[in-house]
Amino acid sequence: HVESTLSITVVGASGDLAKKKIFPALFALYYEDCLPKNFVVFGYARSKMTSEELRNMISKTLTCRIDKSANCKDKMDQFLKRCFYHSGQYDSEEHFSELDCKLKEKEVGKLSNRLFYLSIPPNIFVDVVRCASLRASSANGWTRVIVEKPFGRDSESSGELTRCLKQYLAEEQIFRIDHYLGKELVENLSVLRFSNLVFEPLWCRNYIRNVQLIFSEDFGTEGRGGYFNNYGIIRDIMQNHLLQILALFAMETPVSLDAEDIRNEKVKVLRSMRPLQLEDVVVGQYKGHSKGGKSYPAYIDDPTVPQDSLTPTFAAAALFINNARWDGVPFLMKAGKALHTKRAEIRVQFRHVPGNLYKRNFGTDLDKATNELVLRVQPDEAIYLKINNKVPGLGMRLDRSDLNLLYRARYTREIPDAYERLLLDAIEGERRLFIRSDELVAAWDLFTPLLNELEERKIAPELYPYGSRGPVGAHYLAAKHNVRWGDLS
Ligand code: BG6
Repeated sequence: HVESTLSITVVGASGDLAKKKIFPALFALYYEDCLPKNFVVFGYARSKMTSEELRNMISKTLTCRIDKSANCKDKMDQFLKRCFYHSGQYDSEEHFSELDCKLKEKEVGKLSNRLFYLSIPPNIFVDVVRCASLRASSANGWTRVIVEKPFGRDSESSGELTRCLKQYLAEEQIFRIDHYLGKELVENLSVLRFSNLVFEPLWCRNYIRNVQLIFSEDFGTEGRGGYFNNYGIIRDIMQNHLLQILALFAMETPVSLDAEDIRNEKVKVLRSMRPLQLEDVVVGQYKGHSKGGKSYPAYIDDPTVPQDSLTPTFAAAALFINNARWDGVPFLMKAGKALHTKRAEIRVQFRHVPGNLYKRNFGTDLDKATNELVLRVQPDEAIYLKINNKVPGLGMRLDRSDLNLLYRARYTREIPDAYERLLLDAIEGERRLFIRSDELVAAWDLFTPLLNELEERKIAPELYPYGSRGPVGAHYLAAKHNVRWGDLS
């Protein structure tokens, strides 16, 4: 039995994502004894810093979320001792070979596995994988590379990025992260459906009227305008996070829970969908607004955003899957920044009960009597099912009540951050929650014609006030498909 070392190199160590998510997730894994006995963490970035300074920097964002005892503080110190820093350019073979020497010093005499997290803009991914020779970085173990979106801006640029990466990496080495797949409730989607008899038989066009995937944030693009303006909400949230959830939701039963079986089914869903057209979407952009003596900026007030920007900060879309299970069922997506609330949820609206005996108790609005299953991904994770119920009493009055599984009431355990699960999966070589290249191609093929058209025809987004419920156009879009947004009713 050969002892192994795991080294985790965070490239772009001084960036926001690294500080806020990656280092804290690594610490949480360490705290939970999920990391191997021999491991080291390296930060790599251009800024000049000592290892001590890196430790100082990351210690500020590590949290003892699991327990707040002194034990956690000790663990934190032990973790920080395993963290090192190397400063270098992203396109310098020399600097990466210095890093390689440092890694080797820690790896002596052992099987060495290396994980690189490229927490840097995608336009420098290729420089890094080339200069760091990541294809065969570790002589006697595996080398895996985690990359995070944006993977291009459209089919063409994404294809180009994939081709370039594959010059220097094998597909099995590439772990394309979509952090929404690491969220507890998203993982639970398959459990709910495939292990409960009361759901799977209903999971089709015969019983489901529409599915809604909703993402909203109650803050704008503050500080990220430079990045955001080049992408917009469709590329930032819909083409990846919401579409991935949709694929998981709608896939056929996979042969097994193996990564390839699941991803085979997901890609089939994506390829069964009709590419979006202009009439399938509504786009919006937030404008400034004053409320309670406080004023909120417009998107274009961001100094890094051009005054005439048409970039959508909100979009609603109707998608359809052309297969036997889902033919005609609208999958509605809605994503926006600077809305009235922060929330992500999946809502499944069921059909009316045929010949409902209690029809008259609902007046003319039968929609009020349909069952709705809601998975609240965040915040305050919950799964609830809206059912009709008799209000206790002598009369026959009905109301809609919830069968409610509220996580914080049911489970005492903290819900891990998505990055914890995904990092652990990458370390264990579990690819189920990572995006395969054919999924990425299919996802871009769905959205690229629309994105081109929006840009070529300079479609002006509908303005909505910061902190509002978004453009009215979203209601018309839903109404066109006989749908009402569940989060607003
Ligand atoms: C990122 C987007 O992928 O997801 C951000 O680029 C967005 O714009 C973020 O704010 C939302 O993630 P979470 O986990 O905070 O819901």
